[in-house]
Amino acid sequence: METIQVQVAQVQTINPLIRCLTLSARDGSALPGFSAGAHVRVQVALADGASDWRHYSLIDLGGDPAAAGAPAQYRIAVRREDEGRGGSRFMHALQAGDSLTIEPPRNDFPLGQHPGRTVLVAGGIGVTPLIGMAAQCRAQGRPVTMVYAGHSRELMAFLPELQGLLGDGLAVHADTEAGAPLDVAALIEGCGASDRLYVCGPKPMLDAVLGQAQARGWPSERVHFELFSAPPAQAGDHAFELVLAQSGKSCTVPADQTILDCLIDQGCDPLFDCKRGECGVCAVPVIEGEVDHRDYVLSAGEKAAGKLIQICISRAKGRRLVLDL
Ligand code: FES
Repeated sequence: METIQVQVAQVQTINPLIRCLTLSARDGSALPGFSAGAHVRVQVALADGASDWRHYSLIDLGGDPAAAGAPAQYRIAVRREDEGRGGSRFMHALQAGDSLTIEPPRNDFPLGQHPGRTVLVAGGIGVTPLIGMAAQCRAQGRPVTMVYAGHSRELMAFLPELQGLLGDGLAVHADTEAGAPLDVAALIEGCGASDRLYVCGPKPMLDAVLGQAQARGWPSERVHFELFSAPPAQAGDHAFELVLAQSGKSCTVPADQTILDCLIDQGCDPLFDCKRGECGVCAVPVIEGEVDHRDYVLSAGEKAAGKLIQICISRAKGRRLVLDL
């Protein structure tokens, strides 16, 4: 994959958890254009010294499609996670002038052209890809609203900018003020028949929206979504033995690691892309063992059949899993 050498042009602390980084090409040239919902992958150094890639949405408050043609800078926002392998902590330690390797923008979460209202649903830092969508809808005179949910207003990034952009079209839900999580059922109930949802947030929010939409018989194309980060380990996750039938290798997948990351640590070279259970690239045939499916790719029938697993996110229900690898 082609890469771009960039430097950190500016660092802005938004709140105690979130920093905004402005990136420009090291050689001063223009950067590849992008559309609303796009992201770049950034190479990070992890706490254990290994390197990996993290995915950050590109923030564009302008909404002018021409402005994204050959931008001089990219803007991303990074939420610091104290758990995990250290990718966000690496990003939070960066200073102006530091160098980074990134991949060109890619858009797996594009804003479609459709009648009806564009309803943006953001959870926490998942707001970042939706900002460009809000700006583009506004610039094009398309009806758009946003529901932005977070723990507290103090920790919700870009609130003033979104209030300026959307005015009454922005509804903010802070758990600390409401005393309860966002009422997803009411949100779905309030949508018109031709409205389309664009959702980006943590897995519980995404699962709630998808579940409510499905329960009301919405066709799947009415809900577009992206997880804002790799899903965290879930309570009750356990270690299990992984056997690779083709190579004869076996290893133990720890409770806090995915099959994919475990295989990479073992020196294997599995196919993957999103690492969030959305793209389907990492599917592997299952020979033995019951799968705890957590992806958004396989159909209900495929999950029930148990013959495939998305190894970036799904796990074994039991203590042993044999894959055709
Ligand atoms: S890498 Fe995309 S679904 Fe696993």
